[in-house]
Amino acid sequence: MKIAVPKERRPGEKRVAVSPEVVKKLAGLGFDVTVEAGAGEGASFTDDAFKEAGATIANDAPGALKDADIVIKIQPPIVDGENQNELANMKKGAILIAHLSALTNKADVENYAKAGITAFALELMPRISRAQSMDILSSQSNLAGYKAVLDGSDVFGRAFPMMMTAAGTVPPAKVFIMGVGVAGLQAIATAKRLGAVVTATDVRPAVKEQVESLGGKFLSVDPKAEKEAETEGGYAKEMSDDYKRKQQEVVNEHIKKQDIVICTALIPGRPAPKLVTDAMVKSMPEGAVIVDLAVEAGGNCEVSKKGAIVKKYGVSVIGHENVPSRLPEVASALFAKNILNFLTPMVDQESKSLKIDWEDEIVQGTLVVRDGNIVHPALTGEGNA
Ligand code: NAI
Repeated sequence: MKIAVPKERRPGEKRVAVSPEVVKKLAGLGFDVTVEAGAGEGASFTDDAFKEAGATIANDAPGALKDADIVIKIQPPIVDGENQNELANMKKGAILIAHLSALTNKADVENYAKAGITAFALELMPRISRAQSMDILSSQSNLAGYKAVLDGSDVFGRAFPMMMTAAGTVPPAKVFIMGVGVAGLQAIATAKRLGAVVTATDVRPAVKEQVESLGGKFLSVDPKAEKEAETEGGYAKEMSDDYKRKQQEVVNEHIKKQDIVICTALIPGRPAPKLVTDAMVKSMPEGAVIVDLAVEAGGNCEVSKKGAIVKKYGVSVIGHENVPSRLPEVASALFAKNILNFLTPMVDQESKSLKIDWEDEIVQGTLVVRDGNIVHPALTGEGNA
């Protein structure tokens, strides 16, 4: 069984879908792993490190992908890029495993079907305990939450902790986290470690206890409406106009006194909720910083711009794209572990061959194309993700 790991070719992507440690583990499962030369460069994994771990190095993508039974990637393959079609090099019947953004890239999914491959979209991983170790959204969001605080601190002209020095006392920074899922929780923990005074808000009431256990203060908007805010899958729902108005009033007052705001609020399948208005930005202290992690889904802040740091009313609004790729080594290592944990139950230990249980909840939740047929209910119109 051959697994191929091509170099990521999309602009700004520094991660790679395998680490030397995971190469070893995959070899132990019976896989021959081929890595394209230079694939780990952005993540500090050298070809030699991959070779030592037991991988074969291929000179180019066609060489890596040729005859591969499984292709693992971070981002969706480029299908119609200039002079490159990553799908064209995959054999019929091969299995593609990656963050495919399948529900928003339906044309790509049709191309996978046309190529006669089988495709698993890891972003559709069911949120059940058994799948936690395979959840790329969690592993990458956790890192993004951490990096967002560091990115904010980098632009901020003051310190995070309170410092009592001979030259005078420095007050602690006030950090406000909006949206307390995986990224938000890590942002709270990181800001606390750095010594900031942290407050946070979310529409899901379960979050209050989590914020407090990390030493933050929870800012509640409307506890009654929040009881209905969570879907069965643990995600947030779009809130009513009445709730949005109340939230604005609460945030309006609070944000005026904040030095750093980290925005992480997302609603699956919908644009990110707009939580920080232009007027709120204007009300913030000179030198304040907003980090908008939701920028790729349209942004939580009206001022943020994808891929840019905007300065308005003396406030810096950071809109970095693909934040996990800003920590490429650890993000790749965890992504690779997620893939390993996803693949392990698919391998028959005795015969060292693939034995996929097509009825399994995790397989069914992530499978978008099987042998050239689009099968995911959210894509065939038979259901929701
Ligand atoms: P996410 O990235 O979809 O959203 C981030 C946060 O924004 C969420 O906490 C959400 O409630 C909040 N939000 C949405 N709209 C908002 C608004 N208008 N105002 C304020 N906040 C708003 O969420 P993420 O990080 O993917 O986590 C969602 C849940 O899934 C969490 O409870 C997490 O613990 C759970 N989870 C479960 C896993 C498993 O069991 N395998 C794995 C990962 C997460």
